[in-house]
Amino acid sequence: MIYRYLGNSGFKCSAIGMGTYYDMNWIFKTYFGIYSKKDTKIEAIKTGIENGMNLIDTAELYNTEKIVGEAIKDFKRDDLFIATKVFPTHLSPRSLEKALNRSLKKLNTGYVDLYQIHFPNPFVDLKKTFKTMEKLMDEGKIKNIGVSNFSLKMIKDSNNILSKHRLTSVQMNYNIFHRNIENNGIMKYCRENNIAVLPYFPLGHGKVAKDYYNKYFDEIRKDIKDIPNANIALSYLISKNDNVFAIPRASNKEHVLQNIKYSDIILNDSQLKIIDSIKS
Ligand SMILES: NC(=O)c1ccc[n+]([C@@H]2O[C@H](COP(=O)([O-])OP(=O)(O)OC[C@H]3O[C@@H](n4cnc5c(N)ncnc54)[C@H](OP(=O)(O)O)[C@@H]3O)[C@@H](O)[C@H]2O)c1
Repeated sequence: MIYRYLGNSGFKCSAIGMGTYYDMNWIFKTYFGIYSKKDTKIEAIKTGIENGMNLIDTAELYNTEKIVGEAIKDFKRDDLFIATKVFPTHLSPRSLEKALNRSLKKLNTGYVDLYQIHFPNPFVDLKKTFKTMEKLMDEGKIKNIGVSNFSLKMIKDSNNILSKHRLTSVQMNYNIFHRNIENNGIMKYCRENNIAVLPYFPLGHGKVAKDYYNKYFDEIRKDIKDIPNANIALSYLISKNDNVFAIPRASNKEHVLQNIKYSDIILNDSQLKIIDSIKS
């Protein structure tokens, strides 16, 4: 497993972590108290931690914070980097504080390592949101601040609005088929400002693993025998930039173990070029 400092956090995270968004159908059912295959999901996260993954991503929207809380309860809290997200309707100072307290309760922890704004909300004054976040940092409930689904301008504005701290991470849709952040200035800005990039949909929501796409990866398999599509796709992300932390979904232990098995593989320039040639 490759470990690297996640932005300015001072924490060394596994370059491949675990995501815990399942799908909207799963979220919908949780409102009726149905948590499908809950134990399998908890086991998947525990397996990841036992085998070196220390970065876990969740969000109040996903209704998986309780699952993460359950999975981490027997591990040393300090060894883990737990990231959650606040929903965009909860960005006013009062709502933000309440949302964080709810998340902490569900996660059964006193602090989150990374608190991310899930989506921008144009009706909220970001200055107030970040002021509250910095207050919560001073109180020790948040260790680092991140944003997700922000434009380059909003990322820059966020970093400038923060007064005592700096942005630690940006979470964006980024995979071999969707490489907008490489071309719209976001990756460049993050690299220059020591901001970690957490690609979501690193497997294109599972698409890259489909046999149909084997043709894109067979050339790489001439060099790295038998490596599955999914793992080439993850290696691509973490090889191309050393500020990247992929968070493939962890919902069954077999896939988690597979992602760990190939986690040390860094693609060389010519292998990266082969993947780059796929139209994104
Ligand atoms: N910030 C945002 O707006 C946002 C949006 C979406 C997601 N996210 C975060 O990003 C994470 C990842 O996104 P995602 O879960 O939607 O998509 P993803 O990780 O790109 O793809 C998930 C799919 O890939 C499968 N998979 C995982 N490992 C595999 C492997 N080794 N081989 C083959 N298939 C594999 C999963 O199946 P199994 O489940 O059966 O293993 C699942 O079907 C989320 O869990 C969430 O934490 C953030």
